[in-house]
Amino acid sequence: MFKAEVSALQLEIGFGGGEHLLHRAKEAPETGFIGVEPFVNGMAKMMTVLAKVPLGNLRVYDDDATRLLDWLPSASLDGIDLLYPDPWPKKKHWKRRFVGAANLGRFARVLKAGGRFRFASDIDSYVNWTLLACRAHGAFEWQAGEAADWHRPYAGWPGTRYEAKAIREGRRPAYLTFIRR
Ligand SMILES: C[S@@+](CC[C@H](N)C(=O)[O-])C[C@H]1O[C@@H](n2cnc3c(N)ncnc32)[C@H](O)[C@@H]1O
Repeated sequence: MFKAEVSALQLEIGFGGGEHLLHRAKEAPETGFIGVEPFVNGMAKMMTVLAKVPLGNLRVYDDDATRLLDWLPSASLDGIDLLYPDPWPKKKHWKRRFVGAANLGRFARVLKAGGRFRFASDIDSYVNWTLLACRAHGAFEWQAGEAADWHRPYAGWPGTRYEAKAIREGRRPAYLTFIRR
């Protein structure tokens, strides 16, 4: 599946400009990364970068992530990153959010036991929504040692373009990590 020999598999959903995905793929050449981005501008930017610097451990998919999730074998992923998903801040649109019982069910199926689901957002109502949805689902355990963990970026975090804009506009990101039981 990958040109490089890989011993672990990570998925990033909605990679946007691809800053985070490229950073992670370069720093972990023995991990296979799948990046999903249906928005043509993001994918075009990624293809331009990969044409210059091919990465044998990175594959991309340009459609809805749910299609890929349904295609992947059970217990095949070590991690899923959902970084700044479309926020849908208005209450009447909350049901369009990517996090919900159906997609958490998809995550639970494709993640290995002990696999990691990371969710970052600058929208407080989406952070609360995700905590509640994961607790209700039951297959995920939230990893938070102390209150400060919530706002501490993940190790080696390079930032994303969307995040930089959110911080410029005065919003404070939250970084959640859940472990598949
Ligand atoms: C707010 S942007 C954040 C992009 C990037 N993660 C960042 O932090 O800069 C959300 C991204 O999710 C993508 N997206 C929305 N729905 C998606 C879906 N069903 N499957 C995969 N990606 C999706 C959008 O095209 C968009 O690029």
